[in-house]
Amino acid sequence: MQIGMGFWASKTLLTAVKLGLFSTLHDRALTRSEIQERLHLQERGMEDFLDALVSLHLLERDGVGPDARYRNTEETACFLDRASPAYMGSILEMANDRLYEAWGRLERALQTGQAQNEANGDLPAFLAGDPDRLHQFMEAMAGVQRGNFVALAEQFDFTPYRTLCDIGGASGLLSIEVARRHPHLACTTFDLPEVSDIARQTIARHGLRDRIAVVSGDFFQDDFPPADVITMGNILHDWNLDRKLLLMDKAYRALPEGGVLIAIENIIDDARRENTFGLLMSLNMLIETGDGFDYTGADFDRWARHVGFRETYIMPLTGPTSAAVAVK
Ligand SMILES: C[S@@+](CC[C@H](N)C(=O)[O-])C[C@H]1O[C@@H](n2cnc3c(N)ncnc32)[C@H](O)[C@@H]1O
Repeated sequence: MQIGMGFWASKTLLTAVKLGLFSTLHDRALTRSEIQERLHLQERGMEDFLDALVSLHLLERDGVGPDARYRNTEETACFLDRASPAYMGSILEMANDRLYEAWGRLERALQTGQAQNEANGDLPAFLAGDPDRLHQFMEAMAGVQRGNFVALAEQFDFTPYRTLCDIGGASGLLSIEVARRHPHLACTTFDLPEVSDIARQTIARHGLRDRIAVVSGDFFQDDFPPADVITMGNILHDWNLDRKLLLMDKAYRALPEGGVLIAIENIIDDARRENTFGLLMSLNMLIETGDGFDYTGADFDRWARHVGFRETYIMPLTGPTSAAVAVK
């Protein structure tokens, strides 16, 4: 029942994020009528909405009844308050605005084998058509990947390498987290021209303009900028097998001997039994792209060797995400 009716809890959390509840609470405690007023809501659902969040361990409540005060938990203060540098709510805002409805058509996706989002499978074109949508998508990606990029920057030994190129680098976050921890590395973030302004602004905000180059291009049409390390965060899973192999082959050709390709994704366990988030992410790729899918470490190893890489290994990052590393 918990899984079957899980959309109740899911939509309660997504709505709380969308309404800005956790950001409104910030570091203070408010009564339910104060919250109601600040969020412009009606009294009818307030008590159940807030206490359901308490029971889900997404709010703390001091006291009972109308005078009770609600405040953020340690986790919601860290990850769901917009004022926090570790804010992850942007992916939940996108889940609320786009994915929730599209997942309502999972049945049709399984029956037709086709994408079910409003982009009809061409997500890049759909996003490029509306700056607000593009901005929300970039924020969402950053929210979900920030912890992984920090983990990669801290765990992976970058000392033997001089240059890094992040393919499909979006707002430049991976390059930012790596560059600030490894002053010897020159980084390039490569993405479509529509994204370059967002990347330039984000990099400038972090004071890293002289350390990170922004290069615009199409990763299917253009050569990859040569680099000792090529990273791809949630890129391969967007595409079918032919395109995955094409991208891995282009990375191989842009790397020197000893260089590495690193894919940062929700790598599924080889037995395909444990990484539920990775398996559901793969279904999400059906909903979002039609023919994209996630993969296991064994899949990555097979494909990497096929295009010429010498060996591969998996480095766990945060939660369900790992770095799949291929060495040339
Ligand atoms: C799922 S996002 C991943 C963003 C980021 N790497 C991460 O890990 O969060 C895919 C990225 O690929 C970019 N992209 C899609 N098609 C592309 C193409 N043909 N050439 C270059 N970049 C592309 C998108 O603009 C987007 O930033």
